Amino acid sequence: MPPIRDHRTLKPTDPTTDTIALRPNFRQQGFWNPTHVFAHERGARIHRMDLNECPYPPSPKVLAAIASAAPDLNRYPDGTCPVLTGRLSERLDIPAAQICWGAGSTQLLTAVAQIAVDSGQELVAPALIWRRFCGVFDVVDAALRTVPNRDDGSIDVQGLLNAIGNRTRLLLVVTPNNPTGLMLSHDELSLLAEHTPQNTLLFVDEAYFEFAAYAGGPDALDILKHRHGPWVVTRTFSKAYALAGLRLGYALCSSGAIANALRLVTSTFNLAGVAEAAALAALDDPDYTQMILRTTAIERERLTTGMRALGLSPMDSVTNFIGVDAGMDAGYVVRAMRERGIRIATFGYEAAGTCIRVSTGLPEDTDAFLGALKEVLTSAG
Ligand SMILES: Cc1ncc(COP(=O)(O)O)c(C=O)c1O
Repeated sequence: MPPIRDHRTLKPTDPTTDTIALRPNFRQQGFWNPTHVFAHERGARIHRMDLNECPYPPSPKVLAAIASAAPDLNRYPDGTCPVLTGRLSERLDIPAAQICWGAGSTQLLTAVAQIAVDSGQELVAPALIWRRFCGVFDVVDAALRTVPNRDDGSIDVQGLLNAIGNRTRLLLVVTPNNPTGLMLSHDELSLLAEHTPQNTLLFVDEAYFEFAAYAGGPDALDILKHRHGPWVVTRTFSKAYALAGLRLGYALCSSGAIANALRLVTSTFNLAGVAEAAALAALDDPDYTQMILRTTAIERERLTTGMRALGLSPMDSVTNFIGVDAGMDAGYVVRAMRERGIRIATFGYEAAGTCIRVSTGLPEDTDAFLGALKEVLTSAG
């Protein structure tokens, strides 16, 4: 599953000198920078529909909480976030010792792989998942077994279970999955929970959990709590709570031992005090979160209907983004859209070379996207 080496991937510049001091798996790796902005785009009105961000600012209550916590920025924070951990522990009915914080759930993805898989061991994952996982696989340098997604893009759960071998130590799924927006069913999650062996960590990335729950989807945590074997679920405040810029994610773990291992590979002062204050305020403002979920569903529907009217068949997403086969080279479509001020993404893998991913935005973003896509599809056709 090679990552696309595009203009946003910074390549190692001098492979002959300092790289000798690096572990071999770091020597040729590029660093993918998805937030890169071209010089001509600075200050211009850009429709950011490529990173699955929330188009709304954080709730006013969150902004107030950040302002009142800011004077303590001269002090180191308690990275275990005791108050927030207590709140989540109660809310999710999981012991506080089994909750660990990360600078965004992205940090925890790598950490989970680091604590579970040694070199010479193996991890199993669907072929089509969020492209950031390529970076995770590069860091751990474990053997990777990928299982093709089904023709409709969904994850082949039985295929994943069949791919588990003697050296497998980590099985990874993303639900709802990025870039497809499709979620696993209750039965599929139960199958994974029951049949993933006890020497294999079952890792469920639920970055889009709130959107799935809003659409009536299953709760992986409720299912995994009954598993006899190790598991981790990661979630985030980046999406449904509009806090991507603050970097605030968490892992729910089957035991304190796993949470502790994650703390060891992240950092003592991992989460800023303002982040803890912001998260508490966000949890205290459910109306604002509901507004985000409701407007996301409305714009997702408008995008879907609009793309259908252009003759496309968007995937049945439950999230704040939609995958669709554009019927032509995805790289070309992304570039042509970007020239028109609209940032969208490819699926990130060569295997899905004509599929694009668009995030939901404000109503005006939807209008701009549909107008430009019509132009791009017709001018190329
Ligand atoms: C599947 C998936 N997991 C994790 C993340 C990262 O979220 P965070 O902002 O918490 O690092 C994303 C972000 O787009 C994602 O799509």
